[in-house]
Amino acid sequence: MHLYPICGIFWIIVGSVVIHINFFSSVVSYFVIRSLPLVDGEMYKIWSSPIPLYLSCYVFNVTNPDEVMQGQNPKLVEYGPIVYDEIYEKQVMDVDEELDEIVHTTTSKYTLNKKLSVPISRHDKVTVLNPAYIGAISMLTSLPPDFLKKYGDHIPKLFPNQSSIFLTVRPTDILFDGVKVSCNEKKYPELKMICETLDSYPSPAFRRSEKPGVYYLSMFQRTNGTIRGPFTVNRGLRNISRLGDITSYKGRRIQTVWNTDDCNTVKGTDTITWAPLIRAERFVTMFTIELCRSLEADYVKNVSSHGINGLKYAGKAKIWYPNNTKCFCQIEKDVLQCLPQGLVDIYDCQKMPGILSEPHFLHADPSLLTYAEGLYPNESLHETYIVIEPYTGAPLSGSKKIQVNLKLEKLPVKLLSNVSEGYFPIVWCANVRSLFRN
Ligand SMILES: *[C@@H]1O[C@H](CO)[C@@H](O)[C@H](O)[C@H]1NC(C)=O
Ligand SMILES: *[C@@H]1O[C@H](CO)[C@@H](O)[C@H](O)[C@H]1NC(C)=O
Ligand SMILES: *[C@@H]1O[C@H](CO)[C@@H](O)[C@H](O)[C@H]1NC(C)=O
Ligand SMILES: *[C@@H]1O[C@H](CO)[C@@H](O)[C@H](O)[C@H]1NC(C)=O
Ligand SMILES: *[C@@H]1O[C@H](CO)[C@@H](O)[C@H](O)[C@H]1NC(C)=O
Ligand SMILES: *[C@@H]1O[C@H](CO)[C@@H](O)[C@H](O)[C@H]1NC(C)=O
Ligand SMILES: *[C@@H]1O[C@H](CO)[C@@H](O)[C@H](O)[C@H]1NC(C)=O
Ligand SMILES: *[C@@H]1O[C@H](CO)[C@@H](O)[C@H](O)[C@H]1NC(C)=O
Repeated sequence: MHLYPICGIFWIIVGSVVIHINFFSSVVSYFVIRSLPLVDGEMYKIWSSPIPLYLSCYVFNVTNPDEVMQGQNPKLVEYGPIVYDEIYEKQVMDVDEELDEIVHTTTSKYTLNKKLSVPISRHDKVTVLNPAYIGAISMLTSLPPDFLKKYGDHIPKLFPNQSSIFLTVRPTDILFDGVKVSCNEKKYPELKMICETLDSYPSPAFRRSEKPGVYYLSMFQRTNGTIRGPFTVNRGLRNISRLGDITSYKGRRIQTVWNTDDCNTVKGTDTITWAPLIRAERFVTMFTIELCRSLEADYVKNVSSHGINGLKYAGKAKIWYPNNTKCFCQIEKDVLQCLPQGLVDIYDCQKMPGILSEPHFLHADPSLLTYAEGLYPNESLHETYIVIEPYTGAPLSGSKKIQVNLKLEKLPVKLLSNVSEGYFPIVWCANVRSLFRN
């Protein structure tokens, strides 16, 4: 965080030099290129310094939970933003001179930013579909049928004061702080099997407390301080165009998550380091670990940010066209099972149930908007974009946006016997970077 003003100034200087001494630009490019590769030097310092970001989230408050239980479509009201300061850091583990690559991991630490968030009082509560309930049900459905019958209706007993498939909780609790989960086997002996499973195979969404049998459920706590990777990234010493390219994730250049090698190939940048002198390329590629896949953002236009010219790239609908996404479908019994356009099932990627999309189902199959009411996709609010200073590759601003959804389905347990069925939004978050942060 403290190094941030320094790199800001560095980029602004480079930026203004490039802009004001245009006819010298080939000379400038020469020096820029010499100082850019990720070996010692200024750029390496910036690359390896902590980067401040924001994580800005909106929770979908369900205003008619009882009616949803009886088959009505959910009515949602977006609540937020709830903003967290994020410090994104890299830890260099090794350098591979041969491949011109750095091996590193990353971590992010989050703290609530009350100033930028909506005023949240102790009494403000939102109602959301319980991700642990849907997760546990989907685990039970993979077991023999009587497991679902026997245990399916007991799961809410894990949550003190909650009796249905919904949770009514403080918004900060469901995001990071945690909603209490309590294995009260004295009161509910029928929880025994579920609690033993929880103890031996804790879900990534559950944080253990000091008390045995007490956990805290949240969407993002597990990402706070957790080491991601390792990644390998190109240093750009041999070929400057490859600077910042991620070439492997968790030791694999080709993952084993999707159907084809092409879709499994790790490629693109981490959205933070970009190669210089991208002369308005048609598109840029970024590797998104939340989705275990690379995404392309298309050139949109030139924009000016505090007097610095930048190229704006944005994720467009074509990312989700069926002809581009077949290899991300699941194969069940030799049959390709594709979700509606715009949805990604992350179970194989993150080992937890979840279906990701753009916020408000932007760029997705319009039929998804006929389920939950209260969604208004709007590119200017919901698109993922990045603005890059072309000569240095410095990102001037950017925002990566993801919505977490769960599939609600009728099943032969009491609580799910009458529910309306569909893809149910829970929360959406923007990961925001701005060079001109106050
Ligand atoms: C969520 O919706 C309920 C029902 O409409 C409402 O009572 C509650 O105040 C809302 N929560 C917030 C934080 O706005
Ligand atoms: C993240 O973890 C740190 C250290 O463990 C803690 O101080 C901080 O409150 C956590 N952030 C959130 C948003 O829970
Ligand atoms: C549950 O409700 C009871 C009584 O209303 C209250 O004393 C208790 O603190 C609540 N528990 C939680 C975890 O909110
Ligand atoms: C440098 O990398 C770019 C992008 O991957 C590639 O198109 C180009 O052929 C490479 N140049 C050399 C000299 O290898
Ligand atoms: C956008 O900026 C790039 C790099 O500075 C420049 O080459 C290009 O001509 C600009 N395009 C437009 C439409 O202004
Ligand atoms: C994919 O489909 C879209 C429309 O559904 C079409 O416009 C586009 O040309 C197709 N792309 C390819 C590579 O076939
Ligand atoms: C999209 O959002 C912008 C910014 O809030 C607003 O000005 C615009 O009217 C919205 N567009 C539509 C179609 O609602
Ligand atoms: C589901 O609907 C049936 C028929 O209307 C009703 O008897 C039953 O009580 C409902 N179940 C729940 C859990 O509300």
